[in-house]
Amino acid sequence: MQPKNLGEAMLTEEINKRKTFAIISHPDAGKTTLTEKFLLFGGAIQTAGAVKNNKIKKTATSDFMEIEKQRGISVATSVMGFEYQDKLINLLDTPGHKDFAEDTYRTLTAVDSVILVIDCVKGVEAQTERLMEVCRMRDTPVIVFINKLDLEGRDPFDLLDELEEKLGIKVRPMSWPIGIGVTFKGVYNLSQQKVNLFQSSKTKIATDSIEINDLSDAKLDELVGKEADQLREDVELVEGVYDPFDQQAYLEGKVAPVFFGSAVNNFGIQEMLDQFITIAPHPKPRPTNNGEIQPEHKKFSGFVFKIHANLDPNHRDRIAFLRVCSGKFERNKFFHHVRQEKKLRFSNPTSFMAKDKSLIDEAFPGDVIGLYDTGNFKIGDTLTEGESFTFKGIPSFSPEIFKEVVNDNPMKTKQLEKGIHQLTEEGVAQLFTARMGNKKYIGTVGELQFEVIKYRLEHEYGASASFHHMNFYKACWFTSDNEQMMEEFIRLKSNYIVYDKDKHLVFLAQTPGILRITQDNYPDIEFHFTSEFKKETV
Ligand code: G4P
Repeated sequence: MQPKNLGEAMLTEEINKRKTFAIISHPDAGKTTLTEKFLLFGGAIQTAGAVKNNKIKKTATSDFMEIEKQRGISVATSVMGFEYQDKLINLLDTPGHKDFAEDTYRTLTAVDSVILVIDCVKGVEAQTERLMEVCRMRDTPVIVFINKLDLEGRDPFDLLDELEEKLGIKVRPMSWPIGIGVTFKGVYNLSQQKVNLFQSSKTKIATDSIEINDLSDAKLDELVGKEADQLREDVELVEGVYDPFDQQAYLEGKVAPVFFGSAVNNFGIQEMLDQFITIAPHPKPRPTNNGEIQPEHKKFSGFVFKIHANLDPNHRDRIAFLRVCSGKFERNKFFHHVRQEKKLRFSNPTSFMAKDKSLIDEAFPGDVIGLYDTGNFKIGDTLTEGESFTFKGIPSFSPEIFKEVVNDNPMKTKQLEKGIHQLTEEGVAQLFTARMGNKKYIGTVGELQFEVIKYRLEHEYGASASFHHMNFYKACWFTSDNEQMMEEFIRLKSNYIVYDKDKHLVFLAQTPGILRITQDNYPDIEFHFTSEFKKETV
């Protein structure tokens, strides 16, 4: 065999080994607990409680040290790699706090599938819906885990109906709960026809299951008592109502397999992990401005989806998180930074196995690596082996809170400019600048970012700023084929039209009503709520 073919075969083998995913949920549904259990199963950690709860519980008057701690912790746990059944699993962490939702949305651009955790008492919550919208934009395959079955939750059929209705995706139960809350006896694995009896075990890894080849078997009554008849009825209904599991439809993001369990009790998790290993996608092709790039593409390519400032103020460098999309990344090899048209090489790239960072010599599609950065990278940047395409699908989403930046110390104007520029490049918030004059607006999803920005401006840049609330409702990127209408719109609305970080024009709508009227008045203009829209990506 020619060396080239051997290289290709090895690349394919590495790709097929990898599964890169994220766990997402509304805060408190059980994401952190489930992450920890996965790491236990994968042998990446030995004891429960090892994954820090990277949540900021306080909101309005946050302790800044807590913010700093949060930043530190999320660097360490941003990516957790572990091996399970000969597969290399990359689990990307997403911040628990809703104010960091934009960070979560961006992380979702770097995964190939997600596991969505739902609290069986609360059902689909606000943040669940928004996260699913982001998954749907890219048809990301979704597995649903309905958690906390040990609590008095809602009827499973109602929960499934709610998932379909509110999340706009078809579901297919893979297991079925036997009782709920105090009557919870276990789950029935629908495909293997096995009963897994509930036992509360915070440390035990595997649970034995009992095969029931025929649901009418009296053994079932012995095992689960009077819940047996209910299970028989439920299973008959499930098989009548839901189509059999269709893996292709799952891979296309059209149907979500659903599992039931209790993360804190380590229950129902192994079944889901075993199924995940079998059905979840390998690293997928990624869209670029020059067509799709297959992971098997010989030449290396990847994109930056997250940038983290170094916690140590003596080291002002940052870590850029890069998702490898094709070919092989190698340490000390020169790669091409497409936006800056510049050659860069990295002497200490890191991978993240659980909480430890370690130096790597090479990385393959699906991997996420940390690159030390002295200010070269912006979120969305593409790195290649000489090719000049750029990856698509790393959009900015319309912020929800807008504030004007007010310089409180004119002696430190330069520092403020630099700080604002760098922090927004890191993706802490979005920067919008006036087309005329020097006004700057910061847009975020939550109030917390303003505290983070203010604190970091002072401590890292020596600048001082305050923020004046602006009554804007949405940032809308806009496009049109009607040049005349475009010109008129920009002229008449000039006070509300600003530039985003890439110098694209953005209309800041004050209220939903104003947005609606504007849409009616300018029918040939299309308004978009993310910086990348279908028109551009296809
Ligand atoms: P999150 O990352 O999605 O925000 O949720 P997290 O895992 O932190 O879980 C939120 C709370 O729900 C935790 O309790 C956790 O112990 C609990 N929990 C997770 N899975 C289950 C389950 O299957 N059943 C029950 N009854 N509770 C569950 P906490 O009191 O907020 O924190 P902790 O002190 O227990 O850590």
